[in-house]
Amino acid sequence: MRTETEHTIYLKDYAPSPYRISHVDLDFAIGAETTRVRALLTVEPREGTEPGTPLVLDGDGDELALGSIAIDGAPLMLSAYLADGNSLVINEPPLRRFILETEVTLRPENNTRLMGLYRSGGTWCTQCEPEGFRRITYYLDRPDNLAVFTVRMTAPRELAPVLLSNGNLVEQGDAGDGKHFAVWEDPFPKPAYLFALVAGDLGSITGSFTTMSGREVALAIYCTHGKEEQCLWAMDSLKRSMAWDEKRFGREYDLDIFNIVAVSDFNFGAMENKGLNIFNDKLVFAQPETATDADYEGIERVIAHEYFHNWTGNRITCRDWFQLCLKEGLTVYRDQEFTSDERSRAVKRISDVVTLRGAQFPEDGGPLAHPPRPDQYREINNFYTATVYEKGAEIVRMLATLLGEAGFRKGMDLYFERHDGEATTIEAFLQVFAEANGVDLEQFKIWYLQAGTPRLTVRDSYDAQSQTYQLKLSQETKPTPGQPDKKPLVLPIKFDLLGPNGSPVSWSGVSGAEVRDNMIVLHSAEAEIVFTGVANKPVPSLLREFSAPVHLDTELGMEDRLFLARHDSDPFNRWQSLQDVGMNLALEALGGHRWSDEAARALGDAFAETLASPGLDDAFQALALTLPAESQIARSLGQDVDPASIHEVRESLIEAVFGPLAGRLLAAYEGLASGEAYSADARSNGRRALRNRLLALLVASKAPGAAELAEQQYANAGNMTDRLAALAASAGAWTEAAPRLLEDFRQRFGGNPLVLDKWLAVTASVPRDEVIERIRHILAEPDFPKTNPNRLRSLVGTFAMSNPTQFARLDGAGFRFVVDFVRDIDPINPQVAARILTGFRVWPMLEKNRRETAKIVLSELQSAGTLSRNTGDILSRMLAE
Ligand code: TRP
Ligand code: ZN
Repeated sequence: MRTETEHTIYLKDYAPSPYRISHVDLDFAIGAETTRVRALLTVEPREGTEPGTPLVLDGDGDELALGSIAIDGAPLMLSAYLADGNSLVINEPPLRRFILETEVTLRPENNTRLMGLYRSGGTWCTQCEPEGFRRITYYLDRPDNLAVFTVRMTAPRELAPVLLSNGNLVEQGDAGDGKHFAVWEDPFPKPAYLFALVAGDLGSITGSFTTMSGREVALAIYCTHGKEEQCLWAMDSLKRSMAWDEKRFGREYDLDIFNIVAVSDFNFGAMENKGLNIFNDKLVFAQPETATDADYEGIERVIAHEYFHNWTGNRITCRDWFQLCLKEGLTVYRDQEFTSDERSRAVKRISDVVTLRGAQFPEDGGPLAHPPRPDQYREINNFYTATVYEKGAEIVRMLATLLGEAGFRKGMDLYFERHDGEATTIEAFLQVFAEANGVDLEQFKIWYLQAGTPRLTVRDSYDAQSQTYQLKLSQETKPTPGQPDKKPLVLPIKFDLLGPNGSPVSWSGVSGAEVRDNMIVLHSAEAEIVFTGVANKPVPSLLREFSAPVHLDTELGMEDRLFLARHDSDPFNRWQSLQDVGMNLALEALGGHRWSDEAARALGDAFAETLASPGLDDAFQALALTLPAESQIARSLGQDVDPASIHEVRESLIEAVFGPLAGRLLAAYEGLASGEAYSADARSNGRRALRNRLLALLVASKAPGAAELAEQQYANAGNMTDRLAALAASAGAWTEAAPRLLEDFRQRFGGNPLVLDKWLAVTASVPRDEVIERIRHILAEPDFPKTNPNRLRSLVGTFAMSNPTQFARLDGAGFRFVVDFVRDIDPINPQVAARILTGFRVWPMLEKNRRETAKIVLSELQSAGTLSRNTGDILSRMLAE
């Protein structure tokens, strides 16, 4: 295999650059075909830089056509510099402050990678994180160079009446010739990855926010004309985010303007550019007819996330890209807390754990496993992962759990005070918490350095004679690529001991490990904890709130689990206990021991009781009335996975458990019917979630009349949440109406790209043999937008990630289809190609035939020719022994 460049970067090699750039003066002349960028960089040698040390700037030769180059106004001789494919080297720069002036020409229209300056639906926009700025001009494109930016842009007024960049607008006017100009200044020094520019013909909505010190901030969201009212929810979310960060973390916004721009072509969700966030429009636009409750919640969450980056990411940034989770893990933790405070904490925690197990655990347990802070990479774009984001957030959450809310806040306050305006590291982050609380976090730090999900095994015993209760704990982390030996981690294990009616059991003494209040803090590989003065044999409720991201292995029997499902006061463990019972039945059936009628009935009764409990809110009930996903069952099996039999077992378990409840499910469904107009608040959201969950269960358990009920709900739905739920339930079970409803949906909504994505995703998830042909056919339609990441991810990404039976088909057709697609799309957009290829990360876990086929197909891709560094890196890690 050949990849663009084979080159590994190591954390241990980090060194500051010999020169620094303090001021950047950019001038963009935007034209219909080409854009000329003139850059004036104020450069100075760092202290200790030897005379004759070359200045090496990053620059992507595929994008930049170098016109002229000068130092302090004097053009450089050809021998004074060298521009190759990746850099511009100035051989002997002056050993004093000087101005380097370069001029390059870009062709944004041809930039299909969507990194650097590109066009989306006619709008010029940028994406610079992590290394896109080098596709705009020659620069020290690394996060530890902080500079003050001034940006001037000129563009045809008709094509781009709106001209935006970071910071404050300081000047604008006519530039003659049908052109106009604007000058923006950002007073806050920033790394280049936070630079942004937008020029286009856009509509907008405006708002304002008064900060806690009484400053007024002008807010605006820019979008395609006609979509303005669809931005109102995003604006509302923004104001709530700003208020929350003041209240919870004392963080005030710092500029007078905060702008958001929605674009249709974007590689990820959104980007926190200083004062000018750029969003994938699917995370901005919402109206009840076209957006689901999940979309509303996603918008609220990502608006908050990007806004929170202003302090955790922008004011305090990363020294190097190895530290990515310094900003991402922390900011995800902050957005999770925001959602928990705005909505239901328990429901948010459960959904986050579902995401963690669905996305991060598979990563951590497969060939792409890496530490939250990696120590080497070939392609940094491949490290925007669930491990960096989600596990990164879990680590911050554990820190908060260990230190308590007040201790955590003390550490955060010190972090903001000490590191404001800096580019820093995980070590510095941990240091402020250690100092502010007088604790040692050396062992805790291993969470950042070690890959893999620890397995926590707990065995208990009770001795009535001596009234002692014992918990034996042990932790183990399996080897991961490049890390054969694992150390024990600090595990905060929240727990309680429950007596007969679910009330807590008291104990008079405890020894054997650090136990404070209702938390065990396990530091060692093994521990034996003895509780004395325990009057009756308790049932342990362990790892409450999922207080550490581990696999928990207990020997609790079905009865104890069903007891916890009824009585545990921790909602997370109530939910978990039902999951565990369902998982056990599925695993036993896969091992050849099909559940007894009794066992299925007992689980059904517990579900029915959950549904009937008045104390549980609708959203919780919706989450609880679910069997573990096929991918979860696969992960629990761990090896020799046959997705087809998992699918079959799960389908028949649904019938066995929920079939007998049909009457009750239907009654509850009907009781939740509402003629209310759509509202996005948590209560009505929960009501819809439960009702649609009930519908899905009725359809999946083939209850009489359920397919027709789904068809009716589809036809009569007053909002997209209800309509899509009915469509997905019908398509998943492939009811008689399914093809008809799919057809209707496309007719109705095919003209709206964001709703088309939903149709593409449902279509790609159908667990039936003809799905691959359908997808091929859709891709081949002449007007299918082959360069839009949202479309491609909805169709092919969904297939590779969420259609396990068809992706991992025995005949290899699913694997071949995805690999062919990756090969085709790689030259157009390598980030999208590499991301979709990660669907293969489950391959080593599959049964022998599928495993061998996957290996052959991947090896063929490897020998097929030139791949991008993105795709080549994923592929070689996936195939490494
Ligand atoms: N920093 C962004 C976030 O977490 C992530 C992001 C947006 C990104 N666009 C990207 C990462 C492009 C890599 C490439 O909010
Ligand atoms: Zn982020």
